[in-house]
This record gives sequence, structure tokens and C-alpha cells, in this order.
Amino acid sequence: MINPFEFVLPTKIRYGAGILKVLGEELRLLKAKKVMIITDGGLVNAGMVKRIEEIIRTEGMKSIIYDEIEANPKDYNVEACAEKARVESVDTLLAFGGGSPIDAAKAVSVLVRQGGKVRDYKGKGKIKNDCLPLITIPTTAGTGSEITFSSVITDTKEKVKFTIKSTAIAAKTAIIDPELTLSVPPLITAATGIDALTHAIEGYTANCTEPIAEAVGLYAVEYISGNLEEAVKNGRNLAARDKMMMGSLMAGLSFSHADVASVHCMAEALGSLYDAPHGMCNAILLPYVMEYNLPAAVCKYARIARAMGIKEKDDYMAAVKGIGHIKKLSKEIGLPGIRSLNVNTDDFVLLAEMSEKNGSNNSNPRKITKDEYMALFYKAYYDCD
Ligand SMILES: [Fe+2]
Repeated sequence: MINPFEFVLPTKIRYGAGILKVLGEELRLLKAKKVMIITDGGLVNAGMVKRIEEIIRTEGMKSIIYDEIEANPKDYNVEACAEKARVESVDTLLAFGGGSPIDAAKAVSVLVRQGGKVRDYKGKGKIKNDCLPLITIPTTAGTGSEITFSSVITDTKEKVKFTIKSTAIAAKTAIIDPELTLSVPPLITAATGIDALTHAIEGYTANCTEPIAEAVGLYAVEYISGNLEEAVKNGRNLAARDKMMMGSLMAGLSFSHADVASVHCMAEALGSLYDAPHGMCNAILLPYVMEYNLPAAVCKYARIARAMGIKEKDDYMAAVKGIGHIKKLSKEIGLPGIRSLNVNTDDFVLLAEMSEKNGSNNSNPRKITKDEYMALFYKAYYDCD
């Protein structure tokens, strides 16, 4: 029997190459008058924000830019941005960029309307009222944040990441245009791509998953694994970028309706302690967590392997080959091992504790404790060239 579940998708998705042109129409539907574009400095310098500003101007609306969101967005980033939005009487938010500005914008949408500190909203279901309307436009194929209803923020006092989870913070509309990813550099394409692959695998295999999340997760594995290497090595290939963007979107749908699991528990711990790129942390840990989970997930890991094109009849052998394939893929697309983060093995106890405390720990398909997390950090460390 299938366990009862709820499937809500509060975000309208507008997808396709060139679809950015509908931004004006979507802003009109929201009755926007003054829009804050939350983005990062790199996109402003690359001239990519200009087109967004032009569309807003053509609609007779005003816009301001906020480009001070850091990677692994910090609590103070969100609070400063919300203050600016309040002072400027902004009525609509537009997040343009990777996961960091999008996650930050979701948290800003709460603070502008409801005040307080960002950590007041930590956890599930803390948001009772409406948030400021938000449009998301991703420029990487990775986070899925454009359609998820969670926002991961770094608590800089505690040096730990926390999640705000509520359908109230979901974007009203996500405009997902693969053309915007054509100039993403290879290493960012690689890291964000493995983040998406991890979302797909964890969404498909999480304890709390359901058939719709499983279906989109498994299909996402096929899209991502079949196109990631090409997107990294030939970034101007729009067909590969298109499949990566759609893979990332489906992976986002999967994990937002199920959950992530131990790879993210460990990656978020690494990311908050060392301020390391999220996708890279996932890439480092994904095969080791899969090896640990294997006894509890043979059948699903075999299906993942087959979705990656591995032809092997025996489930156990297919699963093992699939894990090997992911390790090889990460190397081939240039992602380094854990030592590249200059980790200190003395921190492994703390990292293991943080991983165990993560809200997604119980979603892992195999029960995992602090000691086992520590063993996995050591395994990744000693396995690293
Ligand atoms: Fe992620």
C-alpha cells in the first residue's frame, strides 16, 4: 500500500529556451510597481542583470538591485536585504542567480512582511501569514530552489546551516530559461550539476518519499547523468544545458516533496564550517554515503544505475557499478576530493555531530549515527588523492 501523502506545487513554472521574455507579463499579473532584484555581483558585472532591468523598465515599473548576498547565504545578508526592501517600499522580489540569492530571497520575503530575525522562522510551519511575492529566475542548473519551499541559511553565531520550510515562501512564478546557463563556467556547472544529481538520488530514495517524487527523481537522474559531462566540457551546447536545467527542476520537485538525506546532512555541515561550495561538498560525499546505504537500497540504486545507462542484470552488481560511475563522473568533470577544502581531521567529530543533528537525518534510507558519519568523513579523506 502507498502511504498517504500531500503533493502541493504552489509555484507556476514557465520553462523553455528564451522564456525570459515572459517576465514582464508575470510581473503584471502580480501587479508589481517596485521590484527588488536580488542577485550576486558576478551577474551584475557580467551584464546579465541589465536585461532584467530593461524588461521591468519597459513595463513602466521601478527596480532596485541588491547584490550583496554571499555564497552559503548568511543570516545578516537576509536581514540587511529585508531592511533595504522595507525602506525602499518594494512590493515584489525577483531572485536572479544560483541557489544563494534564491534561498536568501525566500527568507527576505518573510522578514519584509512579518519582521523579526531570520532564525525565528527556522524549521517547519513557522510562517503563518503571507510573504512578499517572489519570482525566481535560476541561472544555474543545480539547486532546484526556484520551485522548492525551503530556504537554507547559515546561522553565523552557531556556525550551522538551518532550513526554513513552508509553502508560504515558495515563489509565485519560476521562469526557467536554459539559455541563461550557457555562460556558466565549467567548475560551477560541474558542482551545481552534482548537487542536482544528489537531489534526484536522495529524493528518490528518502524514507519519506512517495511515487510522484520517486518518478521525477529517477527521470532526473537520466537527464542529469546523460548530459552533465557535455554541459561541463561544451558549455555552449544548448541541448545539453536544456536537459540539465530540466533535470535540475525535476530533481528539485523530487526532494522538495520527499526530502534530502545523509549526503546533504554531511554537505551542509562541511559547508557551514568551511564556507565551502554546496555542490562540491555533495560531490565529495555522494559515493561514500551511497556505499553505506547500499544494503538498504539495492533495488533503487540498481534502477539509478540503469537510468545512468549501466547495463547489468544483477541488481547488486548494477548498484555497485552505478556508485563507481558517479565517482568517475565527478573526477572527469574536474571536481576535487575532500582535502581540497583544507579540512582538519580534528573537526570530524563536530562535523559528524552536526550531520546527525540535521533535520534530514531521519530521511536517510539506512539508519545512520554520529560514529558512522565520522567513519564516512574519514573514508572520504583517506580515499582522496
Ligand atoms: Fe543541494
